[in-house]
Amino acid sequence: MSQLQGEIIAAGAASSNLGNYEEACSQFHWEDVEKQFTWYETGKVNMAYEAIDRHVDEGRGGRIALLYQDGDGRQESYTFEELQEKSNQFANVLRSKGISKGNRVFVFMPRSPELYICLLGILKIGAIAGPLFEAFMETAVKDRLEDSGAVALVTTTALLPRVRRDELPLLQYVFVVGDNVQKEEGILDYHSEMNQASTNAEIEWVNREDGLILHYTSGSTGKPKGIYHVHNAMLQHYYTGKVVLDLKQDDVYWCTADPGWVTGTSYGIFAPWLHGVTNVVRGGRFSPGDWYDTIQRYAVTVWYSAPTAFRMLMGAGEDIVREYDLSSLRHVLSVGEALNPEVVRWGHKTYGHRIHDTWWMTETGGQLICNYPSLPIKPGSMGKPVPGIQAAIIDDNGKVLPPNRMGNLAIRTPWPSMMRLVWNNAPKFEEYFRIPGWYISGDTAYMDEDGYFWFQGRIDDVINSSGERVGPFEVESKLVEHPAVAEAGVIGKPDPVRGEVIKAFISLREGYHPTEELKAEISRFVKEGLSAHAAPREIEFKDKLPKTRSGKIMRRVLKAWELNLPAGDLSTIED
Ligand code: WTA
Repeated sequence: MSQLQGEIIAAGAASSNLGNYEEACSQFHWEDVEKQFTWYETGKVNMAYEAIDRHVDEGRGGRIALLYQDGDGRQESYTFEELQEKSNQFANVLRSKGISKGNRVFVFMPRSPELYICLLGILKIGAIAGPLFEAFMETAVKDRLEDSGAVALVTTTALLPRVRRDELPLLQYVFVVGDNVQKEEGILDYHSEMNQASTNAEIEWVNREDGLILHYTSGSTGKPKGIYHVHNAMLQHYYTGKVVLDLKQDDVYWCTADPGWVTGTSYGIFAPWLHGVTNVVRGGRFSPGDWYDTIQRYAVTVWYSAPTAFRMLMGAGEDIVREYDLSSLRHVLSVGEALNPEVVRWGHKTYGHRIHDTWWMTETGGQLICNYPSLPIKPGSMGKPVPGIQAAIIDDNGKVLPPNRMGNLAIRTPWPSMMRLVWNNAPKFEEYFRIPGWYISGDTAYMDEDGYFWFQGRIDDVINSSGERVGPFEVESKLVEHPAVAEAGVIGKPDPVRGEVIKAFISLREGYHPTEELKAEISRFVKEGLSAHAAPREIEFKDKLPKTRSGKIMRRVLKAWELNLPAGDLSTIED
């Protein structure tokens, strides 16, 4: 199927936590993972306890948990004990407002120590955390807070204007991190609330199946879906942290993802702290020099990033790599979109490290198909299923296909970190499980004779731009709010650095003329109303868009236009 299949980069000699892959798979029992947690003995469950407090109780409280640095010169470090105290304080702040178990509490702010402290505090009272990416604008913020029924939000002075409090009757409290917080009903000054709160707090013990976090993510139709995860997910986070991230006690670990996306929580908070390792968080924007400097400055050993970032680093060249000491690195991983073989080869040559691809989704809560330190890598392949996970390629009727046949990438249900609900949307949830016994990912792939999985694409129209999932419907809905836009169809257009960029096909209303200024204005309209990463980078005006007889815009035809491909079956087209 692919000429790439023959290429192999051998496993390194270094010992890894996984050991022999086949042996690990055949001897695997989730119960052995459960034994790693205190609740296996005590019956008392809480993710925040296992991630933070436990290390203090077991004498590791003085270790550095968080090393934070941003582009504005803020640089701080926190031990596990300090994080315990601060998150206790925030738990007490929330409790003092009557907020309790099961309530949804959102955080909408750039990466900062406060973001991590608040998230842990939310979990400590058994509330459900909802992280929002800082680039979200008014509509995106409102849709998510409204759908989830959030009662409280933590944000910053700069982001507060994007919160339409008058349209969110359930949102009672907004904690604002910043100076000179305005005095208004329902607005609370985070720092003065924290200063009044005790550093001791009782943890709310929950059930393994109680809510942990809601991550909103895009599909091809409808508004973003609230993917609901429970505390039980910690089994997957812990186990993959051990065998995929290969975390060891003294590691300094850096995950470059923002907690607004699932990678930034499952692997930017939970997995590293369940292992008690030092977690590096770098705020601010991407720049090759700053990134290499982060690795050098903190002597990062395990680095988890994304194809877009690696492609940009590749674009920055090899000379800049030599200006930094990256010799601390031991293990490098990637997630979010297909990792090009070229990038794997470049990383191997330039960093002297194999970049280990990992496949998973917001809905899966944790890594499922991965490359491991102790296994050879086939550049271009996502690797093999995590021990304990059964993956297969199945056809639309649920028949498992033999090797080298392309089909639906599916996972045997259940596994510990599988989503438990789509918030407020049972039909959407059920769509993923329409074939009994399987979770249907929406990705297509094939498996080769050696059991390696190869990503082929999406079944639906979901766009993956720089590793961020963008739903075309959300962008189209925003576009048609613009007075000039009659109709809009949005597709992902292949791009060498970003994977895909967003391209919009637009038909204009009477009286509007197709100009470059109008294109720029429409793009800005989406950027300011929805979010920067959802704004079309390219706009093409058309007199008419291809539609089905029932009036649905046929994105498949738009894509075929764009790529100069045959448009396929047009029997349902309008005219
Ligand atoms: C894509 C991110 C190819 C895929 C954790 C999936 C990938 C979607 C890979 C999930 C990979 C993720 N190779 N494609 N290694 N990892 N994807 O929910 O299409 O933001 O369905 O989760 O990203 O994106 P999400």
